[in-house]
Amino acid sequence: MNMLPLRPRSLALALSVGFALTAPAVAQSFVDREVGYSGLIGDAIALFLPEDLSLEAMPYSHALVERPEPSGKLPTGWQIRPQYALGVEQTQATIAVPEGTSLYGTGEVTGPLERSGREVTLWNRDNYGYRDNDGHQLYQSHPWVLGVRPDGTAFGVLADSTWRIHLALEDRIEFTSDGPWFPVVVIERDSPQAVMQALADLTGHMPLPPKWALGYQQSRWSYYPDDRVKEIADGFREHEIPCDVIWMDIDYMDGFRVFTFDPEGFPEPEAVNDYLHEHNFKAVWMIDPGIKTDPDYFVYESGNAEDVWVHDAFGQPFHGNVWPGDCVFPDYTRPETREWWADLYADFMATGIDGVWNDMNEPAVMNVPSKTMPLHNWHRGGGELPAGPHAQYHNVYGMLMVEATREGVLDVNPDKRPFVLTRANYIGGQRYAATWTGDNLSTWEHLRWSIPMTLNLGLSGQPFNGPDLGGFGNDAEADLWANWVAVGSFFPFARGHATKDSNAKEPWAFGPEVTDVARTALQRRYRLLPYYYTLFRESSVDGLPVMRPVFFADPQDQRLREEDQAFLVGADLLVVPQWAEDPALPQGTWRSISLLEGDVEADGYQAELKLRGGAILPVGKVIQSTAEPSLDPLTLMVSLDEDGQARGTLYEDDGDGFDYREGDYLLTTYEAVRQGDEVTVRVVSTEGDRPRPERPVVVEIVGDHGVSRGEGVDGQPVVVRLEH
Ligand code: GLC
Repeated sequence: MNMLPLRPRSLALALSVGFALTAPAVAQSFVDREVGYSGLIGDAIALFLPEDLSLEAMPYSHALVERPEPSGKLPTGWQIRPQYALGVEQTQATIAVPEGTSLYGTGEVTGPLERSGREVTLWNRDNYGYRDNDGHQLYQSHPWVLGVRPDGTAFGVLADSTWRIHLALEDRIEFTSDGPWFPVVVIERDSPQAVMQALADLTGHMPLPPKWALGYQQSRWSYYPDDRVKEIADGFREHEIPCDVIWMDIDYMDGFRVFTFDPEGFPEPEAVNDYLHEHNFKAVWMIDPGIKTDPDYFVYESGNAEDVWVHDAFGQPFHGNVWPGDCVFPDYTRPETREWWADLYADFMATGIDGVWNDMNEPAVMNVPSKTMPLHNWHRGGGELPAGPHAQYHNVYGMLMVEATREGVLDVNPDKRPFVLTRANYIGGQRYAATWTGDNLSTWEHLRWSIPMTLNLGLSGQPFNGPDLGGFGNDAEADLWANWVAVGSFFPFARGHATKDSNAKEPWAFGPEVTDVARTALQRRYRLLPYYYTLFRESSVDGLPVMRPVFFADPQDQRLREEDQAFLVGADLLVVPQWAEDPALPQGTWRSISLLEGDVEADGYQAELKLRGGAILPVGKVIQSTAEPSLDPLTLMVSLDEDGQARGTLYEDDGDGFDYREGDYLLTTYEAVRQGDEVTVRVVSTEGDRPRPERPVVVEIVGDHGVSRGEGVDGQPVVVRLEH
């Protein structure tokens, strides 16, 4: 062990962490510690531990689905290795990266896609407008970095710790933790895609969501009273703007008491849900963790009886302020608390609620500078989780909450796929909930950031995410909102939301021109839903993000590494915002497609869509809600490669429920082959027991100068004569 002089970089880093409550009072000096254990835990997946932490003593991992089992020695020449170091109050792992490596991931981050030279504080924070700590600390924590070498091979590094980590990236990756020693897991693969697949194998896959959750969703803080909710729903149908979900924010509650309904504004929640269902909408309602300390409130009372609260340092329930005033907070580390919490959903969901929105679960505490609980609050744990201070459990508070929520929702409706949205989360949290990126602002900067933020969350294992489309805080200008919906309609999670005191931000709130822009943008999304659903299913199986960076099209092409205006949806569809300046687009054939007559030229806002040469895109009809049938006819858009061939898949099932797990699904691979001036499209393979619906199929061969069309019956070969 060498005593090192103060490392200049660490000094700079300690000074630059720079937020008053958490920066160590003195700059830390670090001494090196040896790696104590290194070995494989899977195919080209390595585990490292410092000399001070034995394999046996390795703590429970919230990130990994299974405790790692050593499976062999590291091969000679293994490149990516941590160096451990110990500070006065911190532990550190530093990983040198090969020159020219591009870095991604690190979770929910502001700024550009490529993260070299960036830092992030992994300590979940209620951060309105991304203003605190210069936007370097948001609502979620993903101690994870994806590295892509110049030759396109890739690796991933996970620091398996829930404690606060300062993550700094340069020519090395530096995890500096306020907690005890932590394992480092390194994935080594031939491509970034393969790293993402391995990450999902380690940290879990997103469960397949119900199909309706892929539709457009409309929220506001708050639609109040119940008639206003109905008006909003009617507004969508009147304007013929597709929409699947209306969201109920906190004002539906009785004095912000969760699991209650305001007797004046929402006296009959069943009636609201029935109305929405009758009009082909689903209803998502908010639940926060802060429980009002009111002796006449059943949740407070039953929580007291079951002794579920997080304790302060003196063993008493901790009190903090949130929306309802003085609150106590469930200690989700306790299995008993998670069960109690899950049970609360029974009566709530029985009103016909379809999905749950868990907010403020960093947990947010108002009127304190830290915006959360004290570090020395106490979580009692149980089962596999040891008791520990809030410093240990803060970053997984939201994740444990949504685990329990999902359980509760599933208990009530065992035949439906749960939909839970969370604001706070931790790496691996995709197992329980989708996410949105908190309280952004209606500004151009936040619109631009929303693309790399969504991409980096996807590159951190969370495929189902998106921003408040149009921006949450501030008034939105019509032009900005129109630009946002034109690209936001392609995000995996597409929900418009707005804060209380802002202008109205429904698609028709900005006048007829923007209403038309929104209609076009969202109709395009709805036409693409068969493709999105196929991608979500793929993601639930193989862990690849739904929305992907352009460099995924060619990881060796250095030009693409920083592109974060344009993005890919799946492997085949390229989305280029109208406002993109000099976007770096992949080489090869990418043909512009149109999903609605004249859509790209329509209004100057719509994103350009390009279909990869070699791809077949399954497309449905314009519908107003996923409750309507969309695949009569099924349209197959074909973009041939240089050899005159193309392939694509379509996944279909019930759209909800779990019968697909028993084989009730249909996964079809279509292939197109050109011979002379004819193209034949046929089914080349199918998987699943679900019968093929009898339906017409329309084939559109997208050429360089126009589209050639043919019609037929799905399942039978369709021959199209090329006219362009
Ligand atoms: C938080 C949420 C926001 C919500 C508001 C009121 O700020 O991030 O989405 O509208 O609380 O519940």
